[in-house]
Amino acid sequence: MSTQNPDLTGKVAIVTGGSRGLGREMSLAFADAGADVVIASRKLETCEEVAGLVRERGRKALAVSAHMGRWDEAARLADLAYEEFGRVDVLVNNAGKSPLYDSLGDIDEGYMDAVLGLNFKVPFRLSVLVGERMRADGGGSIINVSSVNSYRPDTYSLPYSAAKAALNVMTQGLAEALGPTVRVNVIAPGGFETDIATNWADGIRERLEKSTSLQRTAQPHEIVGPALFLASDMSSYVTGAVLRADGGFIG
Ligand SMILES: NC(=O)c1ccc[n+]([C@@H]2O[C@H](COP(=O)([O-])OP(=O)(O)OC[C@H]3O[C@@H](n4cnc5c(N)ncnc54)[C@H](OP(=O)(O)O)[C@@H]3O)[C@@H](O)[C@H]2O)c1
Repeated sequence: MSTQNPDLTGKVAIVTGGSRGLGREMSLAFADAGADVVIASRKLETCEEVAGLVRERGRKALAVSAHMGRWDEAARLADLAYEEFGRVDVLVNNAGKSPLYDSLGDIDEGYMDAVLGLNFKVPFRLSVLVGERMRADGGGSIINVSSVNSYRPDTYSLPYSAAKAALNVMTQGLAEALGPTVRVNVIAPGGFETDIATNWADGIRERLEKSTSLQRTAQPHEIVGPALFLASDMSSYVTGAVLRADGGFIG
C-alpha cells in the first residue's frame, strides 16, 4: 500500500454540495486521483455538469438532486450511491451555508432549524448511515467540512458557528464509534473565494486578511491538498482531527 501519493484508484466518493465551490474542486480532484464520484446538491443540472467533467477524466459519476437539510434525504442519497456503485469509501459532508440575517433578534425557530439541519443534523445522519456500511465493508474515510467559525464564532453567523462547532465534536465522537477501520476528520476552512464570498458582509474580506497569518483569502483549489490527504491512505493514522485550512487564523 502506497502512503506517498493520494491514490484513490477504485474508490467511490460521495461529495455533498459537490456541484460548486469547494465541493466541485474536491469532486474533480478525487476523480483525478482515480475515484468514481457521487455529486449531490439541490440543483441536478449543476451536479450533472460536474459529473460530466468526472466522466471526461475516465471515471464514473452519479449526479443526485438532494436537499441536505432534510433528514430523510440522507438515506435516499446513501441508497442511490450503494445501488449505483455497491460501496462507498469516502464521504465528504460539504454542503453548508449561513443565510444572512440583520440582527440576532431576527433569528426565528425556522431559521435555527434550517441552519442546524444543513450544517449539523444531516451530516450526522449521513455519516452514521454511510459510516456503518463502510465499517461493514472494511473501512473508509469521512470528511466533515466545518469552518473557522467553529472555533471563532461571529455575531453575523452565530447559529452556523454553533452548528459547525457541533460538527467538530461529532467528528471526534464518530472517530471513536466508527473506528478502528473508518476514519473521521474535519477540514475547517477559513475564507475561500467561492460563491459564499459574494455574500460576505461589508468588511469581512478585509478583516479576514488582517486576521490571517498568510494575509489573504484562499482560492477554491486550495482545498484539494487537505481533502486528498484526509481521503487517502496518506492520513492512515489520522482520525478525529480538525485540519485547519484557514491560512493561520489568529482571531
Ligand atoms: N467559502 C468559504 O469561505 C467557507 C469558509 C468556511 C467554511 N466553508 C464551508 O465549506 C463548505 C462549502 O462551501 P462553499 O464555499 O464551497 O459554498 P458554495 O460555493 O456556496 O457551494 C455550496 C454547495 O452546497 C450546495 N448546497 C447548498 N445548500 C444545499 C442544500 N440545502 N442541500 C444540498 N446542497 C446544498 C450547493 O449546491 P445547490 O445550490 O445546487 O444546492 C453547492 O454545491 C460549506 O459547508 C461551508 O460552510 C466555506
